[in-house]
Amino acid sequence: MFFTLITGGAGYIGTHTLIELSSAGFNFIVYDNLSNSSEKSLEKVKKIIKKDIFFINGDVRNKKKLREVFTNYNIDSVIHFAGLKSVAESVQNPLKYYDNNVVGTLKLLEVMQEFNCKKFVFSSSATVYSKVDIEKATPLNELSPTGKTTNPYGSSKYMIENILKDLYISDNSFKIAILRYFNPIGAHKSGIIGENPNGIPNNLMPLITQVAIGKRKTLKIYGSDYDTHDGTCIRDYIHVVDLANAHVKAIKYLNSKNDKFHPLCINLGTGKGYSVLDVIKVFENISGQKIPFDFADRRDGDIPECYADPSFAKEIIGWEAKKTLEQMCEDSWQWQSNNIDGY
Ligand code: NAD
Ligand code: UD1
Repeated sequence: MFFTLITGGAGYIGTHTLIELSSAGFNFIVYDNLSNSSEKSLEKVKKIIKKDIFFINGDVRNKKKLREVFTNYNIDSVIHFAGLKSVAESVQNPLKYYDNNVVGTLKLLEVMQEFNCKKFVFSSSATVYSKVDIEKATPLNELSPTGKTTNPYGSSKYMIENILKDLYISDNSFKIAILRYFNPIGAHKSGIIGENPNGIPNNLMPLITQVAIGKRKTLKIYGSDYDTHDGTCIRDYIHVVDLANAHVKAIKYLNSKNDKFHPLCINLGTGKGYSVLDVIKVFENISGQKIPFDFADRRDGDIPECYADPSFAKEIIGWEAKKTLEQMCEDSWQWQSNNIDGY
């Protein structure tokens, strides 16, 4: 039996992807060091998929442990979610981010190469697009300028993309898909799994839901004088279940004989941009909760507008996002209100 190894599979996007992989008939093993998650998330996934999950508590930097996994199981592909993702923390502790994200990916690829496992799906981010250039170039397509990243987290993703491109040049039996996520929000419709940030969240949706549930008094909106329809920043929010489905399509693409782009690099977004005030308005309508807010100064590194041109994903892997901002808000709210303190 062949398995797909899911590194970071206990986390937010990983858990949602396990469900979609399971319904598509894939066998998988979760490999996670639980640095930003807990096994409770996997217990919930088991309830949803009504199956057991092979879980190994391990770090992707631990080659010895990875070798054991590759020796004991027939692993033919890897979806690599494992990584640290806080922009602010990466600025304070860049070495931790380069070690975990870049070194972690290198170790994993080395072991894959040793075991002749060559199919790799990587969680990248819209953050690799060059901020100075994209102010003028939305929607972003895969040929938009990349690289002038503004923080170590973004740089770690950009470095890994380049490592993957170089790896393919050196060994073109590798089949690689680089997926650039825009802004994942929402949760599974069951309401029993969702985003579970540690400490104070950095991203907009968990902050909104925490205000709605009464954990925080107000939301700070960073900037009210951007050149957008209401002065607040515009982003491309994508439902995490749509995002999860794209991983199934990406693995199927790598398994198919007609894969022609190497590495394949695709944007995962809806193609629609919503401002911070748009999101608040939709969330208030859906949840019936008022979200008090104050305007604050612009946040360093923010750009006015960032949304995807997702047409390449549709053309090549037959994927497009289906869920609306209303569904994203409804599912985020259901998760938060059913699980006030997360897992
Ligand atoms: P998450 O923190 O919920 O999940 C990441 C998982 O990886 C966690 O379970 C964590 O314990 C694990 N992990 C971290 N370092 C590890 C290591 N060295 N060895 C083994 N496991 C390790 O984050 P997420 O939101 O699910 O993101 C998944 C991936 O997608 C990350 O690589 C992230 O950078 C990327 N991404 C996320 C977003 C987003 O907004 N959530 C946007 C773009 C890209
Ligand atoms: C952030 C990360 C980016 C990552 C992406 C998806 C930063 C600088 N960038 O991008 O690397 O790929 O998440 O996870 O952190 N906002 C507020 N008040 C808040 C929080 C956010 O007004 O308290 C605004 C922001 O200014 C932004 C929008 O909400 O305009 C979305 O913010 P956020 O969820 O942090 O995502 P990004 O900034 O797009």
